[in-house]
Amino acid sequence: MVKTGTDILRAKSLLENNELIGIPTETVYGLAGNALAPHAVVKIFETKQRPAFDPLIVHTHSIDEVIKYTKNLPQEALKLFEAFAPGPLTLILPKSDIIPDIVTSGHPTVGIRIPNHPLTLELLKQLDFPLAAPSANPFGYVSPTSAQHVIDQLGDKVPYILDGGSSNVGVESTILKCENGEVHVLRLGGLEIESIENVLGRKIDKIKTSSSNPQAPGMLSSHYNPGKQIKIGNIAKEIENHPNARIGIISFFEDFSHPSIQKQIILSPQKDLTEAARNLFKALRAFDNNEIDIVLTETFPDEGLGKAINDRLKRAAAI
Ligand code: TXA
Ligand code: MG
Repeated sequence: MVKTGTDILRAKSLLENNELIGIPTETVYGLAGNALAPHAVVKIFETKQRPAFDPLIVHTHSIDEVIKYTKNLPQEALKLFEAFAPGPLTLILPKSDIIPDIVTSGHPTVGIRIPNHPLTLELLKQLDFPLAAPSANPFGYVSPTSAQHVIDQLGDKVPYILDGGSSNVGVESTILKCENGEVHVLRLGGLEIESIENVLGRKIDKIKTSSSNPQAPGMLSSHYNPGKQIKIGNIAKEIENHPNARIGIISFFEDFSHPSIQKQIILSPQKDLTEAARNLFKALRAFDNNEIDIVLTETFPDEGLGKAINDRLKRAAAI
């Protein structure tokens, strides 16, 4: 039977039977199951080989639904969802009793988001439960930004993948925790910090995204590793530093030329950070089957989506 397509009814019926499916979102593809059915949620952890201590994000379609699955929604949270939902923003909020503990790994909080993808929003509207969905990749690997990426890695484990084309944003949602009137960043992502600060009318001073941060249990430093050594630095210099290596390159906009270069990917010849973010994960995957010893890349401008790109590259480079 065909594994991918745009058949919402088929997706719905599988989910109602506690099966998992792949879903498109504007950030990355998710591996989705009924968030209110512990049976389905267990399958998500098993399929991804994800440790049970790493909680899942709950996806829904409206602010009214968010209110159902959380408790005492803080003012800031409402303001942020009103400004950015549907969009690449996940808020960590006190959970309501309807959300099973297994979804949140026992935490009293739930990560919740309204994804901005027409197919998935339509599916969510037709379901009478929200979807728990981590990125649809094996634990520790790069997140998928197309249905084909999901097929490549989890194709034998999921019965169906809703194909919504390439993810528009290309990096995962920005995760914020709203607590005691304060807003902390737990994960840099597809929503720019500058836009969040504009809506809040103040600067966010602490970005707590270190790998040792127990508040964001999934943010391990070695995430996103595509199975090749990655080095971040001055690409031209690093080419000279590796005279005998077969070199791969991921650059922002520059084109490098050297006999050692086996494959080169320029993320945005137009120097557009949004375009670069959209192309990043596909680029990291592109070296999988190449005979390359090292992938050289660089630090992107520390603004807009450049912050999330730098975060993912640092994690990809950590062994
Ligand atoms: O863009 C996205 O957010 C994608 C799409 C599919 O929505 N999802 C995604 O999920 O990236 P995942 O599971 O790969 O990453 C979720 C992150 C993990 O680092 C997890 O630890 C954190 O969110 N998280 C979830 N619930 C949390 C909670 N209650 N407290 C703290 N961190 C939480
Ligand atoms: Mg993930």
